[in-house]
Amino acid sequence: MRKIFVCGNWKMNTDLEAALALAEGLKSASAEAADVEVGACPPFVYLKPVADALEGSDVVLGGQNMYFEPEGAFTGEISAKMLLDVGCTHVILGHSERRHKFGEPDGLINRKVKAALEAGLKVILCIGELLEEREAGRTEEVLRRQVTGCLDGVSADSMDSVVVAYEPVWAIGTGKTATPDQAQEAHEFVRALVAGMFDDGVAQKLRIQYGGSVKPENAFDLIGRKDVDGALVGGASLKSDAFAQIISEAVRATS
Ligand code: PGA
Repeated sequence: MRKIFVCGNWKMNTDLEAALALAEGLKSASAEAADVEVGACPPFVYLKPVADALEGSDVVLGGQNMYFEPEGAFTGEISAKMLLDVGCTHVILGHSERRHKFGEPDGLINRKVKAALEAGLKVILCIGELLEEREAGRTEEVLRRQVTGCLDGVSADSMDSVVVAYEPVWAIGTGKTATPDQAQEAHEFVRALVAGMFDDGVAQKLRIQYGGSVKPENAFDLIGRKDVDGALVGGASLKSDAFAQIISEAVRATS
């Protein structure tokens, strides 16, 4: 059984006060959801205070990005070791905003994935097609390129520390959600791809989150699908009530 994983991606939002308030909300929501793994990815500067606030809870903490070099003259960048140092266990890599607003290609994401795993972080690897790619019938081709490119050279053993988040770009922050059928279809395709790259055991263990306008109203139907193992939540993770409701919908979907 794959444990459902619901993780908030706060993006470039919150201030210290709001971040700490969200952390308190997360603590109580996760305490009532033992069968669901709950996580949050605050902005870098709030990681340490949020980690302190989450102490004693099961909530896992992640960075939203990192650089692959361990240290050095890389102004503005953050290393895997720094994330670990402030209490992170996870890092989001390849988010569509990194890919499309900051021009990160698969090759760069692949270097980051390998560096994160080597340092001992778990990776939430985001993939997903643009609207024009879906409309041109190229969704599978794009997902294949992203999955094979970003996981190139990763060992089967390390795949235990990888979560994939399927986030169709047209559904992120737009209010447009993929239908549960569209999500299931893409997740099934990704799982088959991973089975081909590694083996079926790795593919069956791999958790694949859905992301893109997940909210309390659609979480149950999405997470209830066979190959949807949780959610990566942007906008709705910034409201304690909505995020707590998504967590309880995830609990309901698993029971
Ligand atoms: P959204 O963002 O829930 O606001 O659509 C999801 C994401 O970017 O991870």
